[in-house]
Formats: sequence, structure tokens, C-alpha cells
Amino acid sequence: MNSPYKSSKHSTYFDVYDKLFSPYIGKDITFVEIGVLGGGSLFMWREFFGPQARIIGVELNPDAKRWEQEGFEIFIGSQSDPDFLEKIVREVGDIDIVLDDGGHTYEQQIITTECLLPHIKDGGMLVVEDTHTSYMEGFGLRNRSFIKYAMNMVDRINHRFARLTPNAAEKRAWGISFFESFVVFDVNRKATSVVSAPTENNGEDLHAKDFRHADNQTYETLLKTSKGLSALKAVPGMRAVAKLVRATVSLPSNMKRARKLKEYF
Ligand SMILES: C[S@@+](CC[C@H](N)C(=O)[O-])C[C@H]1O[C@@H](n2cnc3c(N)ncnc32)[C@H](O)[C@@H]1O
Repeated sequence: MNSPYKSSKHSTYFDVYDKLFSPYIGKDITFVEIGVLGGGSLFMWREFFGPQARIIGVELNPDAKRWEQEGFEIFIGSQSDPDFLEKIVREVGDIDIVLDDGGHTYEQQIITTECLLPHIKDGGMLVVEDTHTSYMEGFGLRNRSFIKYAMNMVDRINHRFARLTPNAAEKRAWGISFFESFVVFDVNRKATSVVSAPTENNGEDLHAKDFRHADNQTYETLLKTSKGLSALKAVPGMRAVAKLVRATVSLPSNMKRARKLKEYF
């Protein structure tokens, strides 16, 4: 409201900004907003973060150059052009926060995320705004939407635990958060490069019985039976037969469970 120039934001966005960006108030950070339009948000960010913050605008419309007179750094070009984004990073250096409020097409959002995430400082974040466009016409192929891309990233992050050996792509985002109309990628390379491994303390072990399958009696019974018949495992083909028997016996109980959970999907 204090900004001397026009900006339009949804009312639900301010709580998200406060949660995400408050820790950076008064800090010497590099903040990049993609999408400048009437310039109003640049002034909002300057007031919010304080005079130490370097506020940078990225815009396709060359008229945005006028904001340089107000002390903002402005880059003119397209957020879907990787060479342009690389050029920004070469000039600006690594970035604390990127806020993508540009054209909102899936292609623009995905290319910007892919190109700029590697240039976010540790402890920093890349925030994509207006992600509701993933459910709207006119922003690209819906089966290649930004939210689908982000959910695929969620799968890649969680899959790391199972495989223990993260590949380079999986290392890049440490955490992903979803808010209404926002997706946030947190960067912490040290934490992401730690290989996940079971970690135990030296506390006294009371050998607590593990009840993890206790509410699935079919599974429990199968487990006990297969343990009892473990000698048969040596017989050729027996493992495959056991797998088939397990799948068949647990089918009704699995179907019942699937039906129970259906309403949550
Ligand atoms: C939603 S407005 C930005 C509003 C501004 N952040 C505010 O809060 O007042 C989107 C802006 O993104 C710009 N834009 C659209 N496509 C772009 C692209 N490919 N690269 C950079 N900017 C783009 C538009 O020209 C427009 O000014």
C-alpha cells in the first residue's frame, strides 16, 4: 500500500511472503523478482527488506529500464531464455531469493527453476508465484504443468532415501514446500549431499516389539508362515511361488485398504 507505483497481489500472498521472507529483513541479500510490470512490487520489496538488500527486476518489457533511475537493477529479456538467465547470474553472482512472478507459463516457470536453482545460495530459495496457472487454460500443456514438474521433484527427493545414492539432479533442491499459489524450493547443498544412512545412538535397547504390521493381520500371518517355511527358500522357483501366494492371499485385504483410502485421493 505504501508503494508509489502500481502493483497487484492476491490477499492470501502476504502471509506467505511474511513466513518465507521475514528472516531476511535487514540482511544484505540479493533478491530477484521476475516480472516488474508497473514497478510497484520493487518498491514494496525495498521497504520490506531494507536498504541493504539488492533488489533486481527481470522483465521482457524494455520500458522497465526506467526503474534503474530509482536504484533498482533491471535486466531486460525472457525468463524462458537460458542464455539470458546465465548472463544475469554472471553479472549478479549467486542469489539469495528468486521470486518468479513473470509470464506464468509452465515453460517459463520450469526453465527459470532449472536454470536459476543451481545459482541460489545455500540457505536461499527459489519461489514460484501464481502456480494456480497449472490448473488454467492458456499457460501450456496441462500434462506438462509446473505443478506436475514440482510433484515429480518431490518424488525425486523422497526417492533418494530408498536409493541412498543421490544423483546430481536430486541434489539440487533440499526441500520443496507448497502453499496456495506458491511452490518454494529451499537450497542447502551441504544437507542435500549427506548420504542418508541409519543412525543409532548408544542408548539402552529395551527390545521394544515392533508393531508396524500389527494392524494388518493378513500380512502378519503371511510373515510368520513364510518365516516358518524359510528352509524351502533353497528350493529352485520357491521364491517366485511364495511371492505369488503372498500376492494372492493378501489381495482381498489390500483391496479393502485401497477402498478405505480412496476418499483421500
Ligand atoms: C504479473 S506481472 C508482474 C507483477 C509485479 N511483480 C507486481 O507484483 O506488481 C508479470 C510481468 O511479467 C512479464 N513477463 C511476461 N513474460 C515474461 C518473460 N518471458 N520474461 C520476463 N518477464 C516476462 C510481463 O511483461 C509482466 O510485466
